[in-house]
Amino acid sequence: MKVKKAVIPAAGFGTRILPATKAQPKEMLVIVDKPSLQYIVEELVDSGIEDIIIITGRNKNSIEDHFDYSYEIEETLKNEKKKELLEKIQHISSMANIFYVRQNHPLGLGHAILKAKPFIGDEPFVVALGDDIVHNPEYPVAKQLIDVYNKYGVSIVGCQEVSKKDVSKYGIVKPIKSLDENTNIIEDFIEKPAIEDAPSLFACLGRYLLNGKIFKYLENGKIGKDGEIQLTDAILDMLKDGEQVISYNFMGKRYDIGNKIGLLKANIEFGLINKETRENLKEYLREELQNFLKNLK
Ligand code: G1P
Repeated sequence: MKVKKAVIPAAGFGTRILPATKAQPKEMLVIVDKPSLQYIVEELVDSGIEDIIIITGRNKNSIEDHFDYSYEIEETLKNEKKKELLEKIQHISSMANIFYVRQNHPLGLGHAILKAKPFIGDEPFVVALGDDIVHNPEYPVAKQLIDVYNKYGVSIVGCQEVSKKDVSKYGIVKPIKSLDENTNIIEDFIEKPAIEDAPSLFACLGRYLLNGKIFKYLENGKIGKDGEIQLTDAILDMLKDGEQVISYNFMGKRYDIGNKIGLLKANIEFGLINKETRENLKEYLREELQNFLKNLK
């Protein structure tokens, strides 16, 4: 079955970047000239996804405004003959079919994904977490997962290796058998383990490709780590039931934009890629670095 649907959970409060997120969704915080969520939507669209459901919550209305047709801005740009900018703006509202549902109770990532059940039915679908931007313009990470799914036909957890000190921040898989260079059958999946309990250093970094069977396990409503319904637990229950799940070590640089330093790094690195900001930013960084080194002496 062709993978053409994706879910983006975007209902979290963004407490790690307060006060910026007091009245504004963290997914709308800017990286250079676009809200972070647009980078994720673009990754999905570039991967062949046609229908996207965004799981939102209270205070998230600006997400819907951003991906909507904007009559006033478009008319102004047309009148001012700002063709390039107009095309950029038109692209935002036309690139995919975007649907919204509210999570309405903050019961965790698993609960958020369950909200997408009527939209997904029993099709395979991509999950792209709103906090994780993965940069790989040549081969978008969702496309990588879709290609792996087309090869093996089972649910996939998108991973990368992390350092020991970071395992307790992530869902950690236990790979047991290699299928090819980057793909492994997994036997266990633990949400945010202590380092001594971690079955490997391979962490789920915000991308999944799941089949519709996952909803049956999410419906159990089992409360897991931090008192929330965890997607990790539902995937583990699916594994225990004899469903095969594989991990795939994706290629691309991942930014955790749900925290301050991740957001800053993304802004600097995307600013160095963006052709409008690249040269000025380089010059600025060079000067700052020189001053910094002078003060070290
Ligand atoms: C979620 C998942 C976790 C995953 C992480 C990736 O955690 O529960 O398994 O490793 O995203 O960013 P969160 O960061 O939302 O607490």
